[in-house]
Amino acid sequence: MSQKVRTAVFPAGGLGTRFLPATKVIPKEMLSLVDKPIIQYGVEEAIEAGIEHIIFVTGRGKGAMEDHFDISYELDATLERKGKKELLEISRKISSMARISYVRQKEPLGLGHAVLCAKQLVGKEPFAVLLPDDVIDAETPCIGQMMDVYNQRGGSVLATMTIEGPSISAYGVLAGSQDPTNPRIYNCTGMVEKPKFEVAPSKQAIIGRYVLTPRVFELLEQTTPGQGGEIQLTDGILALLNHEQVFGYTFDGKRFDAGDKFGMLQATVEFALKRDDFGAKFRDYLKTLPL
Ligand code: G1P
Repeated sequence: MSQKVRTAVFPAGGLGTRFLPATKVIPKEMLSLVDKPIIQYGVEEAIEAGIEHIIFVTGRGKGAMEDHFDISYELDATLERKGKKELLEISRKISSMARISYVRQKEPLGLGHAVLCAKQLVGKEPFAVLLPDDVIDAETPCIGQMMDVYNQRGGSVLATMTIEGPSISAYGVLAGSQDPTNPRIYNCTGMVEKPKFEVAPSKQAIIGRYVLTPRVFELLEQTTPGQGGEIQLTDGILALLNHEQVFGYTFDGKRFDAGDKFGMLQATVEFALKRDDFGAKFRDYLKTLPL
């Protein structure tokens, strides 16, 4: 039987240059999508899927993220004194969500290197990776769907989505074929980070959710800089293929790239429309715009 996936790694060391000037001082993971920092969506997804331990791989200037998931005595005391029970509960819930550890990535050497920084904290067990920029709206948490595939099949699982046209070259892209018994599963034979459109091996783009076996750490240690001069997670997982099966999984849900201005706007509109407290009001407002 497969070992249980208990830990989730959140690489959160990036500079967020796609979102300047908002991210000059504020970590991109702390940008608000409606009323929650984008990283909290990923953390809630992981916890809902049964993850017990969260590891943030951070860097310089990410202090706000640590404070967000910690107890805020001043805020809680003020809310308590003023009798604002609901807000107090929201604030307290965040700090008691899960066991959280932090490790710093001292130099921005790439996503593969960021994941490798969590090696000691993860130990020798399978683990999840969630890229906070990718916010996924799903009935069943995306990472939970993938943990189910891992439990059934035992190999590493990468979230995938079909991307038509040249925008595929912004992603890691899988090579392989659809599983004959489950059309959502893709049996990987290769993968390449950000290929040119003309040479992309398929339309299956890797999205920022992974369930990985611990062997990937040894392989990442041997991975040399690849695309963009960075140590790529895609290259580490490609090396895994020499030892184990790796699967792509077409998750059920909608992904937003909240690390990008346009993607964040799309997510904001769709998440706001779904809100019980002001979704209807927002819909009415949008209808008044001369679109
Ligand atoms: C990273 C990964 C890439 C993946 C993408 C998904 O790229 O390296 O393989 O397709 O996330 O969001 P980034 O967008 O960080 O450059």
